[in-house]
Amino acid sequence: MTDPSALPDLTRIRREFPALDTGIAFLENAGGSQVPACVADAMHDYMTQTYVQLGAGYPLSKRCTATVDDAHAFARLFVNARRGQAILGSSTTALLNLLASCYAQVLKPGQEVILAETGHEANLGCWKRLEKLGIVIRWWPVDPATFTCTLDGLRSMMGQRTALVALPHVSNLLGGIADLPAIVAMAHATGARVVADGVAFAPHRAIDVDAWDVDWYVYSTYKVFGPHMAVLYGRDDALAELPGPNHDFIPRDDLPYQFEPGGANHEGCAGLLALGDYLKVLAGEAADAPCTRAVVEAAFAHAAALEQPLTARLLEYLDGKPGVRVVGSRVADEHRVGTVSFTHDKLGARDIVAAVDPTGVAIRHGHMYAYRLCQRLGIPVEDGVVRASFVHYNTPAEVERLIAVLETVL
Ligand SMILES: Cc1ncc(COP(=O)(O)O)c(C=O)c1O
Repeated sequence: MTDPSALPDLTRIRREFPALDTGIAFLENAGGSQVPACVADAMHDYMTQTYVQLGAGYPLSKRCTATVDDAHAFARLFVNARRGQAILGSSTTALLNLLASCYAQVLKPGQEVILAETGHEANLGCWKRLEKLGIVIRWWPVDPATFTCTLDGLRSMMGQRTALVALPHVSNLLGGIADLPAIVAMAHATGARVVADGVAFAPHRAIDVDAWDVDWYVYSTYKVFGPHMAVLYGRDDALAELPGPNHDFIPRDDLPYQFEPGGANHEGCAGLLALGDYLKVLAGEAADAPCTRAVVEAAFAHAAALEQPLTARLLEYLDGKPGVRVVGSRVADEHRVGTVSFTHDKLGARDIVAAVDPTGVAIRHGHMYAYRLCQRLGIPVEDGVVRASFVHYNTPAEVERLIAVLETVL
């Protein structure tokens, strides 16, 4: 655990985010986070000063090409991609659709894809559509008592026909962190690939695809203090066995471009790259130091330590509240991030959030596209859960504001 005295000053951190000055308590970060000024400024500068096409020989074009290349390098650093590529796209949903359409060309009828019931529809729907091709979809059930898809459950489903296992590293509704290295090891033992949705993990902890040995890992940069884009990591050997969707005259080994038809969003690349400057602030690193892997890891160690007491406080409040059912783990430990969902036995989630909405505290209700999960947990899908989600820039006072409003409603 990070020494609290080593943590950066929260006032200093919040100063980096212009939107946090508006008085709104942004507790809907699992939907999307705020951006530091350095990210917004970099996008603005790119569009007003260097908005030309890549790949030409004149200096401005060379500069833009370098920005996009550097953004890919930053994405690789961010996920610790030592043995693979970072593919940039418009969203996680779009990238997973692209990935599934590539797999549609190599999977054979009768092969199986295992889908975790805790998943967001982005990592379910694209695979379910392969059923039309004779691919067999098998559901990895969620245990409603522990809110997890268990390793034993997966073990009993794995076999020679399993081609892929698709799961969320963290459920965007439950907040619990899956044991990804163990899942990957189990899948690899029978030759299956793992597609992990890291969207709900990425704002809270450092991603390390190399250590986890995962084949595919995707996250949305707009939930991690960046522009509206997404990153799909593919391990070298997993990429090599798939045909990319780009034009046929683009060489097969032109990676990641083979998987980026139309290219990446250029101004978004400028913003993504600038996030490195903010990570240095969060890590307590000097502004003129390079953004290294150690900086990424220190930044997220600080993020986790800042977030943990906020999560603990809300869970403690909800746990003692009659009629409230916390949907997910009730313990704010290292196995959980600050995404907290609950239902009430008498009040609907919609009504609870409607009472909070006018107070300047931003939360939301719904199934959050974890549609099947809500069904399996017996939660009315349209009403869904009430969800509050913290990141490191939130304050204890903001949590108290939420609790004070909930206290009047519950
Ligand atoms: C866990 C999870 N996966 C996938 C997505 C979809 O991401 P995107 O909006 O980038 O398609 C979300 C969005 O909320 C999410 O929370």
